[in-house]
Amino acid sequence: PAPGWSLDADVVVVGSGVAGLTTALRCAAAGLATVVVTKARLDDGSTRWAQGGIAAALGEGDTPEQHLDDTLVAGAGLCDEAAVRTLVTEGPDAVRRLIGTGAHFDTTESGDIALTREGGHHRRRIAHAGGDATGAEISRALVEAVREAALHTIENALVLDLLTDAEGRTAGVTLHVMGEGQHDGVGAVRAPAVVLATGGMGQVFSATTNPAVSTGDGVALALRAGAEVSDLEFVQFHPTVLFLGSGSEGQQPLVSEAVRGEGAHLVDASGTRFMVGQHELAELAPRDIVAKAITRRMEQHGTEHMYLDARHFGAEMWEQRFPTILAACRAHGIDPVTEPIPVAPAAHYASGGIRTDLRGRTTVPGLYACGEVACTGVHGANRLASNSLLEGLVFAERIAADIVEDRPRAGAAESGAPGVPSPLIAAETGTPRTPSPLIAPEARSTIQRIMTRGAGVLRSAESLATAADELEVLHNSAALAVEADEPKVAVPGVEAWEVTNLLLVSRVLVAAARQREETRGCHWREDRPERDDENWRRHLVVRLTPERR
Ligand code: SIN
Repeated sequence: PAPGWSLDADVVVVGSGVAGLTTALRCAAAGLATVVVTKARLDDGSTRWAQGGIAAALGEGDTPEQHLDDTLVAGAGLCDEAAVRTLVTEGPDAVRRLIGTGAHFDTTESGDIALTREGGHHRRRIAHAGGDATGAEISRALVEAVREAALHTIENALVLDLLTDAEGRTAGVTLHVMGEGQHDGVGAVRAPAVVLATGGMGQVFSATTNPAVSTGDGVALALRAGAEVSDLEFVQFHPTVLFLGSGSEGQQPLVSEAVRGEGAHLVDASGTRFMVGQHELAELAPRDIVAKAITRRMEQHGTEHMYLDARHFGAEMWEQRFPTILAACRAHGIDPVTEPIPVAPAAHYASGGIRTDLRGRTTVPGLYACGEVACTGVHGANRLASNSLLEGLVFAERIAADIVEDRPRAGAAESGAPGVPSPLIAAETGTPRTPSPLIAPEARSTIQRIMTRGAGVLRSAESLATAADELEVLHNSAALAVEADEPKVAVPGVEAWEVTNLLLVSRVLVAAARQREETRGCHWREDRPERDDENWRRHLVVRLTPERR
């Protein structure tokens, strides 16, 4: 749609989690005219739901090198080592600067930052706040800093598309704003640098830890803009999400890995600790291994959940260390002090996203991506627990530095994936063949059900083929309706654009998952149960050709 209003800036940051707000604060501090746009309110989005914490080699005896080793193991052969090295070496100072911005982390009696453990970490290196409310505290501190710095913010604004100039360089974004006074309706923010920090796409699935706003908007925008997207098949399922009953949909309460980090046990209905003997770290094995073990056990027992038993913590520890989780469980009629918590895996994190270099540049000049929406190479096939807030922080600072240095003409990342030989560019195979028509909001739960059945924690060639066909039907019937100018054509609006984005990212995700004929990290193919390094130690990079956007 044509913009009805526009404003000019040096940089527009889309998204208001740790990645977006850190980038915006750094750009503004350097004197750039910075506009933050966010789909809901400034403190909405995934960051504020993060529980466990932020990983960094802050503890005595810990080193970035050990953090690097754990990250590479979790990433199952697909991490870009240079990106991980950047993350783990710059991480500790980035956390200290976050503290300087006003975030309060829990401390020990001697005043040091208190550290816990989570899956895949061989050491205590997770800093946390408010016990299990780390993201909420980070969000509070950053939102407060943004307000103090009087940044220009536009809330309730869904970004629609990238604006480019005649040479294909970024020139801003179009957005749809709901009820924000002078910026109401469809408008544009014109800027030579755009930073996408829009978070994840958990809403592609029926049950997810992600809030309702996580509809893959950034990845969809990037695909439509011709940017390269990588590793979308690697969707991480968090092993321990509170089980709310059969067919429960939408955002589900997380039960942090930190609960296992402090000694909770995963048990089946008979009380057997089934992770013992499966991995040297037992319940603290990397997340994909635990999620798979739970899923297998559920299949064997014909049940929809397992249990997390932390009764031995006692009431006092529960209240002090995990107040958020305790309250969420009790709100749903479970008392973890006296009974095991029913848990099951649910979609949690997109390890892939818009491909960037180490400065956060995408393959479209002037377009950057930061945080969950990005694929910097640090996560590989499976993100290590609590590396996500850290990634947002570290790469936000790098992006801000790049924009400040290169203002106003930042460069672009080179095509192809760094660090791993022979990326497969999948522009011509398996991806949508025609541009996305607008999809009606009612299709949201249909897409979620298709994706959960066909491309969930356990996948096969058959389940993925069915999902691809079903998604194709949705796409084609909307496209036909547009062609025939039928009355059932979706009415433009935020919900329809969100569902259009969900369908596009779902189709590309399924195409990638079909192509990757192996099991690796969080991509689990029951028909290809082995990791195949000879053929598949490479990334799937997708770029839509102009006629498919
Ligand atoms: C958790 O607290 O278990 C989530 C941590 C993460 O996703 O990194």
